[in-house]
Order: sequence, then C-alpha cells, then structure tokens
Amino acid sequence: MMRIAIIGFGVVGQGFLEVLNSKKNELSELSKVKLVAIADPVKGSVYCEDGLDTEKLLQLVKERGHIKDYPAEECGWDSLKTIRESDTDVIVELTPTNIETGEPGYTHIKEALTLKKHVVTTNKGPIALYYHELMELAQKNGVKLLFEGTVVSGTPVIRFVQNSLRGAKVLSFRGIVNGTTNYILTKMEEGASYEEALKSAQSRGYAETDPTNDVEGYDALAKLVILAKSVVGIEMSPKDVKRTGITNITKEDIEKAKNQGKTIKLLVDFSLDKGKFKAQVAPTLVDKTEILASIRGVTNAIEFTTDILGKVYVIGPGAGGPETGFAVFSDLIELLTS
Ligand SMILES: NC(=O)c1ccc[n+]([C@@H]2O[C@H](COP(=O)([O-])OP(=O)(O)OC[C@H]3O[C@@H](n4cnc5c(N)ncnc54)[C@H](OP(=O)(O)O)[C@@H]3O)[C@@H](O)[C@H]2O)c1
Repeated sequence: MMRIAIIGFGVVGQGFLEVLNSKKNELSELSKVKLVAIADPVKGSVYCEDGLDTEKLLQLVKERGHIKDYPAEECGWDSLKTIRESDTDVIVELTPTNIETGEPGYTHIKEALTLKKHVVTTNKGPIALYYHELMELAQKNGVKLLFEGTVVSGTPVIRFVQNSLRGAKVLSFRGIVNGTTNYILTKMEEGASYEEALKSAQSRGYAETDPTNDVEGYDALAKLVILAKSVVGIEMSPKDVKRTGITNITKEDIEKAKNQGKTIKLLVDFSLDKGKFKAQVAPTLVDKTEILASIRGVTNAIEFTTDILGKVYVIGPGAGGPETGFAVFSDLIELLTS
C-alpha cells in the first residue's frame, strides 16, 4: 500500500484529488494508493490512519471552501507535523512557489526525503534552486523526488525527455512555458494594448493580481533552470539566465513584427556548445512559418533539438487544477510501477 499526504490544498491539491477520485475505478494500480493526510493552514488539516474519503473531501471543499468539518482522527496538524508524524510513504508537496528562497517547499521536501519518504511536487522554487542537493538526498535515502508538474503542468516533458528520448542528446531547447504571457501576446496580436490584454488575462484567472512573476519572466526562468538541470544535466543557477519580461512590448512592436512575417513570443532559450551553455528568457521574434509561432493563448510548447532526431516538440496545457493534478497523478503512477 502506498500511503500519501498532501501538503498544500489549493488549486493543484484539489485538482489532483479530483483526478485521483475520478480514476480510482479505472486503473488497477490505484487500489494500492491510500490518501491519509492533508495539511493546509486555511483549507484545514486532517489525518486518518485508515484513509480519507476522497469524495467526501471534494464535496466539503466545493461546498464550504475548506475541509475543517471532515470527521478525522486528527485535525489541525501543521505541514511539518504531518510530514514527520503521519504514517506515510509519499509526501505530495503543493505549496506556493517562492523563486527566491524555495520556502516553505524546500524545508518540506528536505524533511520528507530525510525521513525516507518519496516526494512528488509541482513547486518550482525548491527544484530550480536546490535540484542537485535534493536529488542527492533522495538517492542517499533510497527514495524518489518527482516533479513533472513543475514544467508545462500535466503535459509530459521531463519524463518524456528522460525516458522516451533517453540516449538522444538534447543540444538545445526553446519554447513557450508561460501561458499567461503567451495569452497576453496573443491578445495584443489581435489588437489589444498590453494593459487591456493583462486585464483580460486577470479576468479569466490566467494572471494573478500581481502579475510580476509571469510578465517579468521569473516563472519561465525557473522552468528553464529545472529543464536544464533535469533533462540536460547542467549545473546552473537562476542567476546564470538573462531575463527580460514582456512589460515593454508595445502594439507597435507587434505590428512591426507582423509586417515582417513574424510574431513576438516570450521564449526560454537554452543551448549548449562545447560544454558551455547560453540561457535566456526574452521576448523573441519568431518567423510565422515556425511551429512555435502557431502556439496561441495559454498553450505551452517546447522544441528540443537533439543529436539524432533533430527537432522534437511537446505541446499542451501548461496550467490548471486538474491538468497540473494530472502531473502529480502521473508521478504517483511512476512510483507505483517503477
Ligand atoms: N495552478 C497551476 O496551474 C500550477 C501549475 C504548475 C505548477 N503550479 C505550482 O504548484 C504549486 C501549488 O499551486 P496552486 O495553484 O495549487 O497554489 P494555491 O492555490 O495557492 O495553493 C497552495 C496552498 O498551499 C497552502 N500553503 C501555504 N503555505 C503552506 C504550508 N506551510 N503548509 C501547507 N500548506 C501551505 C496555501 O495556503 P494560503 O492560501 O493560506 O497561502 C494554499 O492553500 C505552486 O508551487 C505552483 O507554482 C501550479
């Protein structure tokens, strides 16, 4: 039996629970999964050694916005107590990303790995900042750290390159890994100003009230670093990446690009030459004939250039509760089947 605890029960935590609940009768492997704990400072914390009722939890959170009324054996445990004292094999770490410190995820993940518990996370901060340290800790303790959902949500990228492209060397990659900025640039191409496009993104829930992380390229930068470390195997720091956001892009820039048969995309761009790498996040002119130019709205896409296959593309949704919840789900299936 694989006993799991969810730390952070927001959009992704609930999305994951929906996926887990809807698939429980479809995949035989899931009979070996038991959710026993959830810890969240606002939505509530519950622990039941015999397992939690996923349907009841979903109903409660939908109706009341929290799970504090769930009849649990133990209530109100904080995240660290849950990681330390719950009888669990897997910690699913889904707290907010902090790209500067990696906290609170870094402490949660370190604690779980030290206690020889597997970790599944969608939290970009700890992986972008402490990838090598955490992977070493996992290896030393004979457990796994899986983080498929940190890049392009549930669309398989990391495992796809690590497993399906194993043996083919990734020489470079570039792509659209932030749906919010791609939505804004798409709207601007349709005639909106930057401010109008940002407002539209906010009203649809694609951009936060403070959109800095997305529009200044920090979110894309973290994903670039995670990809470079995990699929290319490079040691690098977020400080090694040149970063420019999209806040200075004007309608005139978009119009000028259009007249040249091009479009402007916020691209992550990483290349390796004779052991040296170049890495940047920047608004980039992309020829209309290129696949990346056709990626509109919140969709994400990455182009990998490999030694044997040439260019290989991964295209799909880059955010959303069930979509990112599916990344957690696929990491769990990986743990169950490997
Ligand atoms: N949403 C997406 O589409 C998406 C896609 C890819 C990756 N991600 C990443 O996945 C993670 C979760 O995203 P989300 O959208 O689910 O965020 P969210 O809706 O803000 O949920 C995070 C939850 O964690 C709680 N939390 C904060 N500190 C905690 C702690 N110390 N212990 C336990 N819980 C804590 C938060 O409570 P408060 O509200 O009180 O802070 C909140 O309820 C983030 O790192 C995000 O970057 C999200």
